[in-house]
Amino acid sequence: MPAPIIPATPDAIQRATDILRHGGLVAMPTETVYGLACDASNAEAVARLYAAKGRPRFNPLIAHVSSIAMAEREAILNARAAALTRHFWPGALTVILPAHPTGTVSDLARAGLETLALRQPAHPVARSLISEFGGPLVAPSANRSGHVSPTRPEHVAADLGDKIDLIIDGGACEKGVESTIVSLMQDTAELLRPGAIDTHSLASFLGGDLSRRSGHDHAINAPGQLKSHYAPNATIRLNADNALADEVYLGFGHGPEGPNLSMTGDLNEAAANLFSMLRKLDEQFDKIAIAPIPDTGLGEAINDRLLRAAHRD
Ligand code: TXA
Ligand code: MG
Repeated sequence: MPAPIIPATPDAIQRATDILRHGGLVAMPTETVYGLACDASNAEAVARLYAAKGRPRFNPLIAHVSSIAMAEREAILNARAAALTRHFWPGALTVILPAHPTGTVSDLARAGLETLALRQPAHPVARSLISEFGGPLVAPSANRSGHVSPTRPEHVAADLGDKIDLIIDGGACEKGVESTIVSLMQDTAELLRPGAIDTHSLASFLGGDLSRRSGHDHAINAPGQLKSHYAPNATIRLNADNALADEVYLGFGHGPEGPNLSMTGDLNEAAANLFSMLRKLDEQFDKIAIAPIPDTGLGEAINDRLLRAAHRD
């Protein structure tokens, strides 16, 4: 039986908490994308989650917390980590830190690493679910491994409906791209994935002390982050000024009529539309040509996802 999709009422939070306590899998809305949540401390539940996504085991998961106090039980926060989380949490920033020796996140969820990815989401539904549950929830994006991330409950249902227990409907995700991931394991903070917190705000908060791997073509920038991770079935052509005969054109700003990420050239709107438009076009067409997107603000995260979508192994 496919997972029920239920509105995010207090009753739904109770029902979801109950499922999580029994090791079940619940799709929850966050401000970035929908996450597939389970009890981070329950290795059996985590194994079911990997299986449902079809995710390679070596790809570690983000633990979602409802407070900085909860984060401090799971990882070691130095002064820089404390400052960053105070400033950007709750929100779309994921930090990589040394796992706490008495932390509860299972080894399987960390893929055996000594480090832990942590985020306190801002979405009210995710927040109340984590605090009602009372411990960290791991939650990768709620798509089958290799598909684009879900930004609406129906995306989750299409990818995972028959493999999970419940989908909480929180409508469309506000940001539409995943969190920004920064590793705090070295003296210099390192950007592992551009995302919904723009790199400029992050770098300026760090006083410019942010290193980034150059180029987009390294195979893996977070463990298991495959180059083709965001690949739809359709062939994608980037930086296109118009469509060839057999292509559909996805515009940005003023341009030919048809699907458009943002008629006004607003990068935040484009990020919020990105995955649902890609999904829709991918269902109907074999070839998608996409307008150039400026590499500023959220444009960096959008271009990162588009490069991955266009890449073929
Ligand atoms: O916005 C988001 O981050 C969403 C929502 C649901 O929170 N989650 C998400 O999770 O995008 P996921 O699993 O699809 O992507 C998490 C990325 C993976 O590429 C993984 O390799 C990386 O985080 N990651 C997790 N733990 C890590 C660690 N200890 N060191 C380096 N990278 C890590
Ligand atoms: Mg993902």
